[in-house]
Amino acid sequence: MASKKTPPEGRVDAAEGRAENDRERGILHPEINRTEDEGDLSLRPRSLGEFLGQAAMKENLGVFISAAKARNESLDHLFLIGPPGLGKTTLAQVVARELEVDFKVTSAPALDKPKDLAGILTTVTEKTVFFIDEIHRLKPAMEEMLYIAMEDYELDWIIGQGPSARTIRIPIPPFTLVGATTKAGNVSSPLVGRFGITCRFSFYEHEDMEAIVRRSAGILKAAIEDDAAALLARSARGTPRVANRLLRRMRDFAQVMGKTAITREVVEEGLKRLEIDSLGLERHDREILRIIIERYHGGPVGAETLAISVGEAVDTLEDYYEPYLIQSGLLQRTPRGRVVTALAYEHLNLSPKQHETSGLLF
Ligand SMILES: Nc1ncnc2c1ncn2[C@@H]1O[C@H](COP(=O)(O)OP(=O)(O)O)[C@@H](O)[C@H]1O
Ligand SMILES: [Mg+2]
Repeated sequence: MASKKTPPEGRVDAAEGRAENDRERGILHPEINRTEDEGDLSLRPRSLGEFLGQAAMKENLGVFISAAKARNESLDHLFLIGPPGLGKTTLAQVVARELEVDFKVTSAPALDKPKDLAGILTTVTEKTVFFIDEIHRLKPAMEEMLYIAMEDYELDWIIGQGPSARTIRIPIPPFTLVGATTKAGNVSSPLVGRFGITCRFSFYEHEDMEAIVRRSAGILKAAIEDDAAALLARSARGTPRVANRLLRRMRDFAQVMGKTAITREVVEEGLKRLEIDSLGLERHDREILRIIIERYHGGPVGAETLAISVGEAVDTLEDYYEPYLIQSGLLQRTPRGRVVTALAYEHLNLSPKQHETSGLLF
């Protein structure tokens, strides 16, 4: 299959493509080093069949892929939206494999100058899947270059300087741009408008998480009991990447506890040691809620102020922490800022009365 070979030229450093994860890796999960995440490659689904969950999205995509293949055309440009760790990069690779075409990967922060983008676009071959991660961080000059490439399959290139400067148009073979983002709202509308297919990822359902845990355990050759897999799946914030990480940790705990399999007891003990609670919240999630309650009387508090208070970058707060807190019904985004819900007080065992002033919720 064409996608299996690694073309020597044009293949952008894969490490750059994964740069988006540095935040999660370095700041949010300092205990996880790069080597381990690379080990994750073996856990990465390689086909649509192996890609578990997200059923509706996957089914549609399957149709579009077969139709494009049957017509022998490139797949329409594909826009992937969703919080980190839900499988955007994985899906982009799966699409290239299913289409049996080349795969090129980069991330917007790695594209510093127009020539960086032009350098890749000029090596694109017919029907290539070109994946740009964190596309909301693309600089305007390159966005414009990308519009033309996506729509007209041409590259505008300026030669020379001053009055003698002229633009030449370089044709590019029809290709598929796959853009991924955690922040769809930050992508300019002309760019959004050029994607023919949009896939919105949602947090995985419990059954799908369980299936992912089992599949990964199988690949890692780690025996796991049924109720242990269920508990682990429930504690991984609906996120496959987190499930895979927790699974590795539980394997470690099982080993030091002298168990040959990951049992329910191992997972309970492991979660306790990792300070992950019954809702799958990490200590920092609880801290964020607590700060809103104790310092801001439950909210509303603006994202920037909150980020400073909890010692996180606004992006990390918005991309990683908030979506799961919102999904869990603990936090709300309102036009005036972030507000915790009654459930948050309950979960933290705090009394709303003690902290009430905003009167927004109670
Ligand atoms: N649908 C899925 N089924 C099984 N495993 C998945 C799925 N989606 C993601 N994963 C696992 O989670 C990890 C993180 O996925 P990734 O594609 O890197 O997420 P994102 O790019 O959205 O941050 C992958 O390495 C893969 O092992
Ligand atoms: Mg990714």
